[in-house]
Amino acid sequence: KKIVSVVGARPNFMKIAPLEREFKKYPDIRHMVVHTGQHYDREMSGVFFEQLGLSHPERDLGVGSGGHGEMTGKIMIEFEKACLELQPDMVVVVGDVNSTIAASLVARKLSIPVAHVESGLRSFDETMPEELNRRLTDCLSNLLFVSEPAGMQNLEREGIDMIRAHLVGDIMLETIQMFFPAISNRKRWEDFNLQPGKYALITLHRPSNVDSEQALREVVDILSVIDMPILFPIHPRTLKRLREAGLESTLTSKAGLIITEPQPYIEFLSLLQGATLALSDSGSVQSEAAFFDVPCLVARENTERPIYLEQGTTTLVGRNKERIGELVTDVLEKHYPHATEIVKELSTDVGAKTVKIIAENLI
Ligand code: UD1
Repeated sequence: KKIVSVVGARPNFMKIAPLEREFKKYPDIRHMVVHTGQHYDREMSGVFFEQLGLSHPERDLGVGSGGHGEMTGKIMIEFEKACLELQPDMVVVVGDVNSTIAASLVARKLSIPVAHVESGLRSFDETMPEELNRRLTDCLSNLLFVSEPAGMQNLEREGIDMIRAHLVGDIMLETIQMFFPAISNRKRWEDFNLQPGKYALITLHRPSNVDSEQALREVVDILSVIDMPILFPIHPRTLKRLREAGLESTLTSKAGLIITEPQPYIEFLSLLQGATLALSDSGSVQSEAAFFDVPCLVARENTERPIYLEQGTTTLVGRNKERIGELVTDVLEKHYPHATEIVKELSTDVGAKTVKIIAENLI
């Protein structure tokens, strides 16, 4: 039997490492990876394959960046050809990027069953392209692997046949466990002359924070309430927008702020492990911060990962300077909750459970 797992963008790569490891335990299954090429720079893609030890993709569709329609359309055209050649018995998609929905739609139209890993998450914010991708992918999927309890409720409410949905946990937490020794040995902060527990780690790249000049100005402004050294690995999209808005030098001249390029997997998680707090608009960083017991201030008005919100390790702060200032003080005074139990619960055998169910459902 042949399985094709589809990846395209940076937040996808770490999600297939535990799956690839588990598929190797099934001698009758040939597992292949197809890379859509949605992300293409070495620092956004290649380096993740190397560090995660992922096998070389069977196909690289090389679609590159573009408008949503263009990107999704190109992936569909190329992925259809790949499916016709590779003839998979099931297609596995992960997360919520344009590659996820494009591949799901192609596979189902070819009558190939689809399994969606990290299913059921909802931000209820349809201005996020990812929200549409999530809902549509879940509609199309034959097997739905859900990362946290709220996901099951979301699917049920949307009328999904719950026989197909499995609450298996958060695959990204298992990837961190796989690479924990390498992450802990890395001590990446030393390369920036920072002290562990004495800096903030920032990542911001969502269209809502960087695509308008007004939002970008606010983003630059809120950094001044974070009263400690700040490390900001900057995403290509954010850098491009800052340059377009003429704000790059305003940012780089801020005292105590270190700007650096997007970090590889091990380096980024090492930086997160050593951070006092994270300020981020990423979805993944919320789970990863919970793993390392680092408080995460989410620069958004909503989140698709409510479990950490309810429990208190993540807090929605938008671009509210005052709120961020208050939380920074709380964190410095060590007033913040911990997610240790939840992390343990959501990170146990996620890959093994997922692959076992996939194997049982191959026809
Ligand atoms: C995708 C995902 C988003 C995810 C993000 C992570 C969708 C709808 N969105 O956004 O959920 O959080 O990736 O990065 O699929 N660029 C490069 N090199 C690259 C990749 C991009 O320079 O390897 C540039 C592009 O030219 C473009 C910008 O960065 O200007 C787009 O970046 P990003 O927001 O990451 O890409 P999406 O694919 O739109």
